[in-house]
Parts: sequence; C-alpha cells; structure tokens
Amino acid sequence: MKSNFNSTLKSSDFGDDFIWGTSTAAFQIEGNPYADGKKASIWDEFSHKKGKIYKGQNADIACDFYNRYREDLLLLKAMNIKHFRFSLSWSRILPDGTGKINEAGLDFYDRLIDECLALGITPWVTLYHWDLPQALENKGGWTNREIINWFTEYVTICVHRFGDRVKNWMVLNEPLVFLGAGHFLGIHAPGRRGVKNFIPAMHHASLCQAEGGRILRAYDSSLNIGTTFSCSYIEAYRDRVKDHHAANRVDCLVNRLFLELSLGYGYPFEELPFLKRVDKFYKAEDNKLLQFEFDFIGIQNYTREIVKSAWWIPYVQATNIKAETRNIPTTEMGWEIYPEGILELLKKYDAYPEVKNILVTENGAAFPDHLVNNQVKDPKRQKYLQEYINAVLKAKQQGVNVNGYFVWSFTDNFEWAEGYKPRFGMVYIDYPTQQRIVKNSGMWYRDFIKTQSQKI
Ligand code: NOJ
Repeated sequence: MKSNFNSTLKSSDFGDDFIWGTSTAAFQIEGNPYADGKKASIWDEFSHKKGKIYKGQNADIACDFYNRYREDLLLLKAMNIKHFRFSLSWSRILPDGTGKINEAGLDFYDRLIDECLALGITPWVTLYHWDLPQALENKGGWTNREIINWFTEYVTICVHRFGDRVKNWMVLNEPLVFLGAGHFLGIHAPGRRGVKNFIPAMHHASLCQAEGGRILRAYDSSLNIGTTFSCSYIEAYRDRVKDHHAANRVDCLVNRLFLELSLGYGYPFEELPFLKRVDKFYKAEDNKLLQFEFDFIGIQNYTREIVKSAWWIPYVQATNIKAETRNIPTTEMGWEIYPEGILELLKKYDAYPEVKNILVTENGAAFPDHLVNNQVKDPKRQKYLQEYINAVLKAKQQGVNVNGYFVWSFTDNFEWAEGYKPRFGMVYIDYPTQQRIVKNSGMWYRDFIKTQSQKI
C-alpha cells in the first residue's frame, strides 16, 4: 500500500484550537479492584472466570494507576499532552451500583481531577467504559429497564461532584462493542449471549446515552457533552448488488445505529429487520427519550472491514473477509491498517446536519514491542499514527468539522479479552516493575504536539 505519510506533518496545520490528547479507561489501567470500599464490576468477575482472558490474565494490578496517577500525569505533562481522557469506575463510586456512596471512591477522582488541573491538563471524562457494578448485573444489568434509574443516580452523583471542574464529558464508550461482544457474542463481560440479551440491552443503553446527556446539561448548560462510537469503514467485497446490500447492513449496525437513535431517526428496521424485536421493550415515550443533541460525537476508528453477503449468518447476513487472508498490512490485533478509512468516516459523520462537532476520541495501534537498553523502538506505531493523523488533516482541509484527536492509548494496558498481549501505549509498561518507558512513538507525539502554538 502506498504510504500516506507526509513528513512535514505539523500539529500547527490543524490550528491553535485543535485538541491533542490521549485516552484511557478505568478498568484497563487502575487495578486495585477492592481498594477503599470498591466492589466488583462485571469485568472483575468475568476476568476471573476460567478461559475468558488470554492466558488467564486479569486486571487486578493493570497499570496500578490508582496508586501511580501522579507519576503518570507528570509524564503526560512532560510529553506536552494537555488533554487526558479517562473514565470513572461506577463501582468505586457506588460499590453496589446504587444506594450507598463510597466517599473514598469520589475522593480518588477528586485527586485525579485536581492534579490534572494543577498541571494544566484538561480532563475529558467518560461516564461508562464497560465496567458495570456486578451488583447491577445480578439484577439484569443492561437488560433491565431499571438501569435508566440506576444510571441516572450514578451520573447525577458524578456531575454534582466533578461538574465544577470537569467541563468535557462523554456518556458511553462504544455501545456497539459492549453490547455486541458482551451481550450477543459473550466474549466480553458480562458474557451474555444472543439477541434475547442484545435487544433489550441495546435499547436501554440507547436510552441511557440520551438520559446521561440530559442530566449533564440540566446541571450546567455550558458543559461540553458528547458520547463515543466505534466505527469502521465498510466496503463491499465485490461490486455486486448482494455484497453492496451486505455492506449496507453492516454499516448500519456498526456505524449508524447508536448515533441515529440519538438524532431521532429511530431504529433502521428496513435494513435490519431483527431489530423489530425491540418492540417488546419499547414504550411510547421512547421516541423522545432516545434523542439528545450532543455537543460533539467522539469517533473511534482503527480499521476497515471488507464485507460480503452470507445468508447463513443470522441477523446481518454478512461476513467480513479477514485481513490476514487479504495479504495486507495489519496491526497485532489483525486489523487492517487503512488510514483512508478514517477520512471517509469523518466525511460521513460530517454529512449529518445535526452533528455539531466531531472529535477522534480513540485511534492507535498494537504492535509487538521490545524493551532493549531501556528503549522501545516502535516505528510501525509511529507510522500508523502519522498516517492516520495525516488523514484527519485531509478531512479538516476538506472542510470536515473535526476538532480533536486522542491517541489510544497513553500507556500499555489491559486489552479486555486479549489481556496484556496487545500493547497500544505510547508509553511502555514493564509490568513486573511497573516502570514506564516512553516509546519512540510517544517521543514523536510529544515533539509533534509542540509545533502547535502554546495557546490552548
Ligand atoms: C476501543 C475501546 O474503547 C478500548 O477500551 C480498547 O482498548 C481499544 N478500542 C482498543 O481495542
């Protein structure tokens, strides 16, 4: 594939207000699942079940961010990164999901937020990055409509406590992934399977997506409120009607469903008739309740998918042609490296008249890293970031309203069912010693950000 790398790439080309940041998530970095009153989340339980995680690993320690956040924020600062995305762990704040508040949990996030601000780092907070309190899962979790009340309680507590200092909020992280992998395929927590779980969980998560936005806005109408979506550029395998239809169905599920619900477009029953099963869970008032005008959408893109028609695959009647069989460059996740995809996706989302502002809230790559003489040379990750950032620049130059970019991830961390094997960080973690070593890609990002004027 031709290289897209523009060696003259400068962050100043994106303008002075463009946001350069990095993203993380509580469960993937914090460790310490039972410290100071916290109780189990679905990921604590799931990751301790046999056979669920690569080599039986778990996130009990992870990056020990719970104890090392100060050191990590200092490192962020040294890397010129002024925008830090992290998530709140619901079960640190409400160990049983509802009811008794755990002050020590709130204190931890107070310290983290205050330290960010003291260092001139802007916090970007995700309310839900997949770690539902286990106590709520025991009551049906996302499949129980009661979750709207549980979520309301949780979000209200968070915004009342942190809303004076945190101005940028994201309600959900990648609903399709936690619903698809966790409530349909059963390969992520809580390990539920089938449409009977997926459909109600999808509907309730979509209602919470909008409700979370409403709660934040009612608290302070000047907050910058968003939510994030996973997305993949989808293309048909062959130029045949059947494959184009298949690609359209997948695109609808993967790229459009959760955004369009928030925009008031309703469910795409025509493309995906199986979604009609939602009728059973749908109340008259839901038309309105599903909608919320977000200030921004966060898009999270890593790859593209090539799709062909497959009548034998239930519900979407489509399958993807795996990258490894196409003899093309991939990351360690087996995901095709395709920077043009993010340009196409940015144009696609920009074409919605209701979308006010787009941020790339995640993009990055896992490659095998080797620590040699206290250095990690990772040219592939650096090239990946440069090519994708260059594609974002092209989008901007073509008039797309994209105003920020966050690398996934700051440090290596716990990659869900894949455990610690894939390393996505710009900073290497030597897990036995918890030492942090900035990889060459991290040094490149540090220097790249510097070319932006210092005004942010
Ligand atoms: C999406 C998720 O939000 C994040 O948790 C995950 O680690 C990355 N993508 C990489 O797979």
